[in-house]
Amino acid sequence: MRFDVVTLFPELVETVVKCGVTGRAAERGLIALRQWNPRDYAADVHRTVDDRPYGGGPGMVMKGDCLLQAIRDARQENPGKVVYLSPQGTPLNQALVSELAGERGIILLCGRYEGIDERVVKLEVDMECSIGDYVLSGGELAAMVLIDALTRLLPGALGHHESAVQDSFFDGLLDCPHYTRPEILEGMEVPTVLKSGNHAEIARWRKKQALGKTWRRRPELLQARQLTDSERVLLDE
Ligand code: ADE
Repeated sequence: MRFDVVTLFPELVETVVKCGVTGRAAERGLIALRQWNPRDYAADVHRTVDDRPYGGGPGMVMKGDCLLQAIRDARQENPGKVVYLSPQGTPLNQALVSELAGERGIILLCGRYEGIDERVVKLEVDMECSIGDYVLSGGELAAMVLIDALTRLLPGALGHHESAVQDSFFDGLLDCPHYTRPEILEGMEVPTVLKSGNHAEIARWRKKQALGKTWRRRPELLQARQLTDSERVLLDE
């Protein structure tokens, strides 16, 4: 999957292809990252990319002209959707990540300062996306979150020990608890069923834990998802 990122801080976004799952995916050619810095498109000697907001008020706004040129150059190389990362966007969840993972590429537009000139959104943005109800200093960390979440879903990105099928949210639920050796840690034992070797019982226990945790912590997730009959039995027992 091809990621083209329009950002004033390419060195920050670059780290995503340097480590971990995304780093390995880049090495294997499963993902490719190219960055477009609006500052390279600034026409004046100071390479200005921001200006004061019309109507007054604090802060600065990213200028439209250099952003438009950067996005349009990126579009020449990437036919994918332009996603603008902003707190005003559609909240990101695993369902949206899965939908976007079907694309061959995606252009990620990162704002800084108070935001970007709204006309850029009108002209070039296909989708606005938020990673949560809090404000970051810019869209770069959000873009990296999206790149990471998308990469995990690409065939071959995870080793068989890290299957995405077992991730939290894959089936719309929070994840079950996990344990590793030693069997007793500071007096606390690993649940017996996990040592039983009975795979059907282990799967049942994990599902019950996931359902219970989701019901206690995030009941709205269960409302958004139909429970199967067997899940209802597990939750009720
Ligand atoms: N840019 C600043 N805050 C953001 C957020 N919460 N989500 C996505 N992009 C952002």
